[in-house]
Amino acid sequence: MTRAVYPGSYDPVTNGHLDIIGRAAHLFEEVVVAVLINKNKRTLFDVEERQEMLREVTKQWDNVRVDSWHGLLVDYCRENNIKAIVKGLRAVSDYDYELQMAQMNHQLTGVDTLFMQASPQYSYLASSLVKEVATYGGDVSTLLPATIEQRLQQRLAELR
Ligand code: PNS
Repeated sequence: MTRAVYPGSYDPVTNGHLDIIGRAAHLFEEVVVAVLINKNKRTLFDVEERQEMLREVTKQWDNVRVDSWHGLLVDYCRENNIKAIVKGLRAVSDYDYELQMAQMNHQLTGVDTLFMQASPQYSYLASSLVKEVATYGGDVSTLLPATIEQRLQQRLAELR
């Protein structure tokens, strides 16, 4: 089976992520969207919440599954017999760091990274920016699925 992992923080999932997930789902027999846990990174949503949101918005694709992992991505790939990592590239500025990670991951276990270009309408989109705009009352309704926006607004209200 051609299985790929699409790793990230997903705090929270955006329409930009969904664009990549949907297109990857056409290319691979199975796509695992993996929430990578980074204890040093403060997140708005805990890992269970992030997975729940991802399951909700990816249920339209039968071959997409959601999981989480604490540790090296290459170890997740090895344990799950995954030979391809999918990453979205929004702009040239993403490339330097993504290339460095792809080369490191390849050096570690031989796993390959496949870059998919973001669709132009999402090329500026990042969860961190969405959170910042929403925090100050900006309109983020076109950047996230409606259910995710509701949860984001609710979480921000709880923190106010
Ligand atoms: O959504 P993000 O925060 O840009 O995703 C980055 C992520 C989680 C994909 C990356 O930090 C990662 O792969 N972390 C797992 C730990 C790891 O394998 N580190 C070595 C990378 S070479």
